Amino acid sequence: MAERARVAVLISGRGSNMEALISAAQQADCSYEVALVFANVVDAKGLETARSSGIATASLDHRGHGGRAAFDAKVDAILREHRIRFVALAGYMRLLSDAFVDGWQGRMLNIHPSLLPSFPGLHTHERAIETGCRLHGCTVHFVTSELDCGPIVAQAAVPVLDDDTPDMLAARVLTEEHRIYPEALKALCAGQLRIEGNRVFGFR
Ligand code: GRF
Repeated sequence: MAERARVAVLISGRGSNMEALISAAQQADCSYEVALVFANVVDAKGLETARSSGIATASLDHRGHGGRAAFDAKVDAILREHRIRFVALAGYMRLLSDAFVDGWQGRMLNIHPSLLPSFPGLHTHERAIETGCRLHGCTVHFVTSELDCGPIVAQAAVPVLDDDTPDMLAARVLTEEHRIYPEALKALCAGQLRIEGNRVFGFR
């Protein structure tokens, strides 16, 4: 098999999507390996999980670096030190500077807990319930400078049930996140994806 692409997963907290990405990479035919988990929160729970899987980790508190661009430049340097080829944001709760986004253009994915373009931003499950949606879900998309707006690679929908609380709905969506994110990342790292305007071709 061809050499596997080196991926960095960027997290800020729990890291359940990170775990799903790591576990998919344990399959022999996976097109990527998780070569680094980086967190902007030094005690992020996911860092411990990554370490216990034998994966290299790095962390840097985002405060006190003289602004967003300066912090992102340091993150970028860490990624390059680890010879990272692709980046997967997985609950990374930071807005990114334009320079960082430009540097990883076409090589950085994010998972968002809604069916974009509905509900970019936070509190997506509450908003889907309040809006009266019958379907809700998750989206894997390329990262561009506009928040939660890049070309869509994969989506999965779940029903919104009459007695759903935001937490119940979030749990149903999260199961789908864990299913589609590894598939989308595998396709990217295998070179199967092609972006034309807003559309992504090649995801099966
Ligand atoms: C997920 O719902 C993801 O879609 C969103 O943040 C949450 C992170 O959860 N971007 P986890 O850290 O992957 O468990």
